[in-house]
Amino acid sequence: MSSKEKGKLAMQVGRLYGSNRRADKPAHIYLTGLKKGGQLYQEMVNKNSGFENYLIDLAEKTHVELFPLDRIVYLSPDSCTPLDDIDQEKIYVIGGLVDEGIKKNATQYRALEANIPTARLPIQEHMTRLDGMPTSLVLAVNQVFDILLNFTKTRDWSQALAVGVPRRKGFVAHSNTLSNDQRDDHNNTHGDAHINAHSKENSNNHSNAHGNKESYTHSNEVT
Ligand SMILES: C[S@@+](CC[C@H](N)C(=O)[O-])C[C@H]1O[C@@H](n2cnc3c(N)ncnc32)[C@H](O)[C@@H]1O
Repeated sequence: MSSKEKGKLAMQVGRLYGSNRRADKPAHIYLTGLKKGGQLYQEMVNKNSGFENYLIDLAEKTHVELFPLDRIVYLSPDSCTPLDDIDQEKIYVIGGLVDEGIKKNATQYRALEANIPTARLPIQEHMTRLDGMPTSLVLAVNQVFDILLNFTKTRDWSQALAVGVPRRKGFVAHSNTLSNDQRDDHNNTHGDAHINAHSKENSNNHSNAHGNKESYTHSNEVT
């Protein structure tokens, strides 16, 4: 990852942390593969006020070193397997990647090498493709996290994806589940600038104070 991409990833982690703090059912977050004193760590500190006091688990080890392999699910936009449900016993890994020129299969291949199953968000199953618009299934780290948080709360993929997938990705929610942002987009042809990030450095997983164990790891390890 370039310095610019690391800065973007650090900001996405800040947004992710903010979402988790506001969540009714917060997740237990691990940032893995993050070397204290490294450039990404420094970006985290620079971009996020109070980062060193964040209530998350930081680890220099990777998710593969920290968790039993049979509990890990690596989330990848290129996976063939749609994520049906969130299993409280599993660790869900979000790749700490900001790839402005998208590196297809980066996390998919990395997971395959480590014998870890992968899953993609079920966007095609629960959203409608917009005619005449290019589509992308690649979301930013914090967007993926927000969708998982929302699904944990609502148990409804249509709603969770409607809130988390920007219309510029070429998919729209079914009309009864349109998010406010998507409703606004119906009257506005300009989407926000979007960051396709691909970095490779940390991992975050989380469980909540009520014993909710689902975990979201976000790891930075693909080159
Ligand atoms: C900006 S994406 C990186 C895309 C990169 N080309 C790759 O192969 O992972 C950051 C991370 O968010 C997660 N992600 C993004 N879109 C996803 C999707 N549609 N389904 C599952 N995970 C997704 C993946 O864990 C991914 O590594």
